[in-house]
Formats: sequence, C-alpha cells, structure tokens
Amino acid sequence: MLFLPIILSFVELVRSQSCSITTQHLTDPPYENYFYSDCNVDAQVVVTSPLSDSNLTIIGPRLIVAWPAGNSGICTFFQPQNGPNGTLSIELVNSTLGQPLAAYRSDSGNSYPDVGVQGVIAFNASATLTIPILGSVRTIRDFTEGPSLLQPSIQNAITLRQYNGSGASYSRLWLDNETISTFNLVPWQSSNSKITVNPGNRTISLDAGFYQFQAYFNYPQLQQLTPQQVLNNQSQALITQQPDQSTSLSFLSYSEKLLAGAWRFLTYFGRDSMISALLLEPVLSTGNASAMEAVIGAVLERINRTDGSVCHEETIGDYATYLNLQNNITSTAAGFTYPMIDTDFYLPILMSVYFSKYPSRVQPLLSRQAGQVDTANANLTYGQLALLNAQKIINITTPFSSNQSVQNLLHLKNSEIVGQWRDSTYGLANGRIPFDVNCALAPAALRAISQLTKIPGVFPNTTSTNGLTNYSSWSSLSLTAAQTWEEQTLPFFELNFTASTAATRLNQFTSQSTFYNGPTHNDSLTDVTLHAIALNGTASLTNQTSLYSQPIPILHTDTAFHLFLLNLTNMSSPAYQASFARLINSTAQSILRPFPAGLLTPSGLVVANPALSNDSTLIANFTNSAYHGTVVWSWQLALMAEGMRRQLATCNASFVPQWCQDPYVYNNTKTAYNLLWDNIDANRAQLQSEVWSWTYSNGNFTTVPLGSLPPPPGVSGGTESNVRQLWSLTFLSVKRDEEYGS
Ligand SMILES: *[C@@H]1O[C@H](CO)[C@@H](O)[C@H](O)[C@H]1NC(C)=O
Ligand SMILES: *[C@@H]1O[C@H](CO)[C@@H](O)[C@H](O)[C@H]1NC(C)=O
Ligand SMILES: *[C@@H]1O[C@H](CO)[C@@H](O)[C@H](O)[C@H]1NC(C)=O
Ligand SMILES: *[C@@H]1O[C@H](CO)[C@@H](O)[C@H](O)[C@H]1NC(C)=O
Ligand SMILES: *[C@@H]1O[C@H](CO)[C@@H](O)[C@H](O)[C@H]1NC(C)=O
Ligand SMILES: *[C@@H]1O[C@H](CO)[C@@H](O)[C@H](O)[C@H]1NC(C)=O
Ligand SMILES: *[C@@H]1O[C@H](CO)[C@@H](O)[C@H](O)[C@H]1NC(C)=O
Ligand SMILES: *[C@@H]1O[C@H](CO)[C@@H](O)[C@H](O)[C@H]1NC(C)=O
Ligand SMILES: *[C@@H]1O[C@H](CO)[C@@H](O)[C@H](O)[C@H]1NC(C)=O
Ligand SMILES: *[C@@H]1O[C@H](CO)[C@@H](O)[C@H](O)[C@H]1NC(C)=O
Ligand SMILES: *[C@@H]1O[C@H](CO)[C@@H](O)[C@H](O)[C@H]1NC(C)=O
Ligand SMILES: *[C@@H]1O[C@H](CO)[C@@H](O)[C@H](O)[C@H]1NC(C)=O
Repeated sequence: MLFLPIILSFVELVRSQSCSITTQHLTDPPYENYFYSDCNVDAQVVVTSPLSDSNLTIIGPRLIVAWPAGNSGICTFFQPQNGPNGTLSIELVNSTLGQPLAAYRSDSGNSYPDVGVQGVIAFNASATLTIPILGSVRTIRDFTEGPSLLQPSIQNAITLRQYNGSGASYSRLWLDNETISTFNLVPWQSSNSKITVNPGNRTISLDAGFYQFQAYFNYPQLQQLTPQQVLNNQSQALITQQPDQSTSLSFLSYSEKLLAGAWRFLTYFGRDSMISALLLEPVLSTGNASAMEAVIGAVLERINRTDGSVCHEETIGDYATYLNLQNNITSTAAGFTYPMIDTDFYLPILMSVYFSKYPSRVQPLLSRQAGQVDTANANLTYGQLALLNAQKIINITTPFSSNQSVQNLLHLKNSEIVGQWRDSTYGLANGRIPFDVNCALAPAALRAISQLTKIPGVFPNTTSTNGLTNYSSWSSLSLTAAQTWEEQTLPFFELNFTASTAATRLNQFTSQSTFYNGPTHNDSLTDVTLHAIALNGTASLTNQTSLYSQPIPILHTDTAFHLFLLNLTNMSSPAYQASFARLINSTAQSILRPFPAGLLTPSGLVVANPALSNDSTLIANFTNSAYHGTVVWSWQLALMAEGMRRQLATCNASFVPQWCQDPYVYNNTKTAYNLLWDNIDANRAQLQSEVWSWTYSNGNFTTVPLGSLPPPPGVSGGTESNVRQLWSLTFLSVKRDEEYGS
C-alpha cells in the first residue's frame, strides 16, 4: 500500500511525457488559426470574426474545428441577435481550461473514445447560432465554397438539446451509424451568459459573454509524426531554427500519409504530397515509419489496380459514405479520383530518388500488403501496384516514342478541362496538351523507370512474365523512350518572337489589362523565345474533336519542371543541347525581364503571364485574381530556384553541357538565379502560404491576399486560402547556394 502513490505518480509522469502537447497560433485576419496536437487528438480551430473593412456578405462570425482523422469537422455560423452584420465579434480566450485550447477526451464505452478539443469563446454581443454543420470537412466546404449547399440527409440528422443545465448540445450520427460528432456550448464562469435552445429550427440564442465549447467525435485517429520523426537526423536543427515551419510540417504529417493543407485539404492529394516530397527530400526522414515512406506508401495504396493510375484525391469519413449512398451503395468505403494526367509520373520519379539512395528499403516497403485504405487493392502488394503504374507509363508513352507526332503527345482526358497542377478553368488557356507533362514529367518518369529496373527487387527480374512483358527489356526500352521524349517534345512548344513583335504585344497588353497600367519594360527585350504553356489541342472547350497544334503563347514557370527533373548527358544529341540552351536561357530571361515583359514582380515570380499572347480572351482571363493567373505560388518559386541550382551544378560536373560554355547563357542563368533568390528573400513573409497576388498603382506593386481581389470573369466567389499548405513548406530544404553567388 505504501508504494502505491509513488507508482501512481510515476505513471502520471510517463503519461504526461508521452502525451506532450503541441500548439500553434497563426493569425491571418479575419482568420485566427489554432493548432492543437497531443496523444489524443490533432485539431485545427479557425475563428473568423469580421474586421472593420471586411465584406460582410462573405465574412461573418464562424467557428470551425477540423480534424485530419476522417477529414472531419464541425462548423458553426453566428449572427448578431439584434445589431446589423459586423457588430458581432467572437474570439477564443485563454482560460483555466486551455491557452486557449485543451484536449477533450471521454471514454464512452464505444469502440473509439470521444476525442476533440475544448476552450472558451467570447461573444461581445448577443448572438444566434444560425447554422451548424457536423461531419466532414467536405460537407463544410460544399456550404462555404459551393452555392451554400446543405444536404437534408446530413442536416436533418442533427439533434439539438439542452445540455448540462444551462448549456446546449448539437450532435449528429454519421451515415455510418457509428460515429457521432458533438458540439457543446455552456456558459463559462459568468452568470450573464445565457443560452436559449430553439430545437424547432436548430438555432440557439446566446447573451454576450463567455462560453465553454467542446467539439469531439468517436472516430479512429491518425498517428501524427513529431517534428523529430518527420525530419531526418541531419535536419533536426530545423526544429529550433524554424520552429514555426517544422511544427506546421509535423501537423500535416502522419504515419499513413501527408496532408495537403489546413483546414480545407486535411487529406491525401497525390500531386501535392509527391511534389513536396521531391523538394523536401533532403530533410525528410527515411526508413521505417518515415515521412518519405508515408508519402510513397500512401500513393501506392491508392493506385487504381485496373489501369495503374495514381490517385489525385481521396474521399474518406462521413463524406465517403455520403457519396456511396448517392450511388445507391451502402458502404463506408473510401473513394478515390483519377482525373489528372500528371500525377502518374511523379511516382516513379520519387521512388527512383528514394530507392537509389536506400535500396535496402525496397523489400520492406514494396512487400507491404495494400488494402488498408483502398479495400479494392486487397491482395496486391505495393510492389505489384508500383509495377502497374510503371506499365501504364510505358504503355501511354509508347506511341510518341515510336512516332513523334503531335497526336501522340499526352492530352488531358476527354472528360476533363484540367489535368495537371494548373487545375482551374483557365489554368491552361484551354490547351489540351500541357508543357509540364510532355516536356518534363513523362521523360523524367521514363528515366526513373529505367533507373528502378537496376535496383534489385523493384520490378520482376524476368524475361517472361505471363508471356507478355519482358521486364528485363524495360531498362533499355525506357531509357531510349526517355531520351526521345526529353529531346523531341520541346520543339513542339517553342516559339520565337522578334523584339519588335514582342514590344507591340506588350503595348497591346498594357492598354487592355484591367489590373496593370505601368511600363511595358520593352527596353528589357531582346528577341524572345517562349515555350508554350500548352498546345491548343482543340478549337474550344466544347469542341474537342479536331486537333490543333498551335502553341499557346502564355509565358510561365513550368519550364522549371524540365530544369528540376532532367539533365543533359553525354548521350544528348547536339539538337537537344541547343534546344536545352534556348530553354534555360529563355527561362533565365523571363526572370531577368520585369513584368509584364517577363515574370518577375516585386511580389514574386508570377506563374503565368498573357502579355505576349496577342489574344484578348487570354488577357482577360489571366489576371492577378485568377488562381493560376499572374499570381505567385510559393512552391513554384522553390521549384524554379532548385531547378536552376541543379543545372548550374552540372556546369561543374564531369560532363559539361554546351550551354555552360556559352558565357551569355551561363551569365544570364547565374544572374537570374541570384535575382530570383533576392526576390524570394524579399517575400519571406508570404512564403508559407499557398498563393498570393499583388495590385499595381502609381508605379508601386502591393502584395495582397488572392482572396481579397474580385474573382476574374466567369468565376464565382473568391477562394479562402489555407493558412498552411504542405508544398509551401519546401523552403525548409530549398536554400540559396552561395557557390553561384554573383
Ligand atoms: C461583397 O461580396 C459580394 C459577394 O461576393 C459581392 O457581390 C459584393 O460586390 C462585395 N462587396 C464589395 C464592396 O466588394
Ligand atoms: C449578414 O451575414 C450573413 C451571414 O454571414 C449573410 O448571409 C447576409 O447576407 C448578411 N447580410 C447583409 C445585409 O449583408
Ligand atoms: C494565451 O496563452 C498563450 C500561451 O500561453 C499566450 O502565448 C498568449 O499570449 C495568451 N493570449 C492572451 C490574449 O493573453
Ligand atoms: C444505417 O442505418 C440505416 C437504418 O437502419 C440503414 O438504412 C443504413 O443502411 C445504415 N447505413 C450503413 C452505412 O450501414
Ligand atoms: C428559431 O426559432 C425561435 C423560436 O421559435 C425564434 O425565436 C427564432 O427567430 C428562430 N430563428 C430563426 C433564425 O429562424
Ligand atoms: C480505374 O480505372 C478504370 C479503367 O480506366 C476505370 O474504369 C475506373 O473507373 C477507375 N476507378 C475509379 C475509382 O475511378
Ligand atoms: C439510385 O436509386 C434511385 C432510386 O431507385 C434512382 O433514381 C437513381 O438513379 C439511382 N442512382 C444511381 C447513381 O444509380
Ligand atoms: C483476397 O483474397 C481472399 C482469400 O484468397 C479472398 O477471399 C478475397 O476475396 C480477395 N479479395 C480481393 C479484393 O481480391
Ligand atoms: C499495358 O499494355 C499491355 C499490352 O497492351 C496490356 O496488357 C496491359 O494491361 C497494359 N497495362 C496497363 C497498366 O495499362
Ligand atoms: C536480374 O537477374 C540477373 C540474372 O540472375 C542478375 O544478374 C541481375 O543482377 C538481376 N538484376 C536485378 C536488378 O535484380
Ligand atoms: C527559334 O530561334 C532559334 C535561333 O535563335 C532557332 O534555332 C529555333 O529553331 C527557333 N525555333 C523555332 C520554333 O522557330
Ligand atoms: C485553337 O485553334 C483553333 C483553330 O486555329 C482556334 O480557333 C482557337 O481559337 C484556338 N484556341 C486557343 C485557346 O488558342
């Protein structure tokens, strides 16, 4: 008996050590973001309260709790009870409960305990909770981003009752008949705070004051990777040097997958996680239960076993059951979408980077059985799924490998208007044959497959498998194909303009542009080479039958994919050496020329620029408020900087490419590299957000949030940006190389 208290306190100590709490507060007015993780739960709470200059039709008081587990969430909207919009503000406050958040946990006897967060929320005036949404983040997004959609089958399952005497409790049984999401609000240490429950219309009325909230659900949680677990041994110092970014990276990293962004994309996205892994690879952990294997494993797990396609986005949790029901299927099984044509190629590229360095990880990772998440893949190993993906890539690249016609280039899927990272309506200028997929991803994936054939255990090492495929021939076959693709695709996209044609087009742009009326900077022009963002492919979105091969003259940053993923070798033909020199030189010049002659603005390198297009439709659609218009994306800056660094490094390698020996091209490249880094350094404040924009007035550029600008023609409301995006954390590893300093 005597020893018991001592033993108990020891247990307490162990528990508190193994349940360390990580919190982060990120302010992004009118959004206040609070992250909370411990051994019970991982959560993000977003409190929105209108500012004096907010558009009150869009911005109202709102509380969101979002959980990576099941991509789940709870959202509540509030309105002033008496005053006009704008008079009610809400905030989370520190209390004895938490600073401001604490975990909520209750072992209710269900298969999974109720877990979530709690805290105290302050209302400056009397309020009505008008709309509660409980279940999936996707259901919340349908409401906040769609035309305010609420599904009766989901909304009508919400119950509202008096709770704990003077409080109120909302709860909803998910469509799985097992999980319950709950949101409680109870007056907090204040006799003034009072709640009136109106079950009839599911609203509650609150007096001004302080209220304790609890938000929780009983659903299996993910296993978060700590900053120590996400970063490799050599990079542990980043935890103290860049605590903000390493905490964000950890919040988005789980043993099973990395998440694309918080709060709107707290789930798997194939492209986002693989691009992030390629850029972050120097600092990410490797081996068993590592970040690299979380990314590769998540992708393999979700491959379409019928055709080897890599999954773009998953649907999980309550929304998966909802979508299944829409198809008259009673099932909680997750759903997977495959609309993209670029995502397939990132997989072998990433696998080749990883397995080349860590061949001993081939066996443990590829022998793993699939089916945990994508039940359709049960009975397949990750290795078999990787093989299907490689087979698909070899299949779809073969026509062009044998006959280099525009018909044989890779096109968007017929049913889709998007297919690579510029996945908004005007992202590719209605083009059907994108630059990145054809000129960089396909050849790089083929090279990677060739490399993977040399690593024992990745692909079957046999000359005859079911009499069809000669895997041992893949090595040379894919190498030859890679060479054809990297050498023969660029000419389809290349365009030359004389300086005077370019100057005329720039004048046309500045006279037509609705957002830029400054100088054309045509003094920076020499003759211009440009690689089209895409080939036209079709006459219009609605007529995809006839094929047009015109290159669409939008200046863009996707040439960075070629620089990042491909290298000249001693096998490169003289023609490719020359066209590569034009590619790197024109890319450098597009950085050296200020916008609109080039891509560089004081707010960053814009990802697309229609100024040389000679097309008023493109000028009208590629604006500073278009998602993929004349706007700045953090990870594109990282890709460009790292792509240029990799090429500059080849000038010191044993095989020295021709362009390195051309002082004009070499100096342009080195100068552009440093100018880009000066620009990145000047924009540090924005680098962790997804995308941002700028306005121009009286000779000055001002950096502004994309969502604050009115949307471009034909696009409905603006988009709420994620405060943290996985691929916007890549400057954790991408750094300026002083060796190429000017
Ligand atoms: C506020 O937002 C609404 C809805 O998007 C829009 O119609 C209105 O023009 C905006 N008001 C202002 C002042 O920008
Ligand atoms: C007041 O705010 C609500 C929700 O935020 C919105 O639906 C409504 O249109 C706003 N009313 C006015 C007059 O702006
Ligand atoms: C709340 O507590 C946190 C953590 O202790 C602290 O950083 C923050 O400044 C506090 N906020 C206020 C408004 O006191
Ligand atoms: C949940 O229960 C309802 C009513 O019994 C039933 O119709 C439905 O199929 C169940 N859903 C699932 C996913 O089992
Ligand atoms: C909801 O019902 C209550 C009680 O009947 C009523 O006072 C209130 O105005 C209603 N609220 C809304 C938003 O309809
Ligand atoms: C998987 O690929 C096959 C063949 O392309 C297609 O029919 C099927 O719809 C795909 N599966 C999903 C879930 O999209
Ligand atoms: C589901 O069933 C309903 C009723 O039988 C039918 O009208 C609907 O077309 C079905 N939906 C699908 C996607 O099969
Ligand atoms: C997997 O194998 C088991 C046992 O052979 C079989 O019962 C099951 O149907 C298989 N599942 C799939 C998805 O092929
Ligand atoms: C690739 O092509 C071969 C031969 O036509 C076919 O048997 C195989 O199913 C294809 N595989 C994929 C993943 O597309
Ligand atoms: C394939 O098999 C051959 C013959 O057994 C062997 O020499 C070679 O190393 C193997 N290659 C790989 C990548 O496993
Ligand atoms: C562009 O000009 C260069 C010479 O500067 C030439 O080698 C190249 O073939 C031209 N490209 C096209 C598409 O005309
Ligand atoms: C594509 O080419 C057709 C035929 O020349 C033309 O009518 C159409 O406007 C072009 N579309 C774009 C986006 O350039």
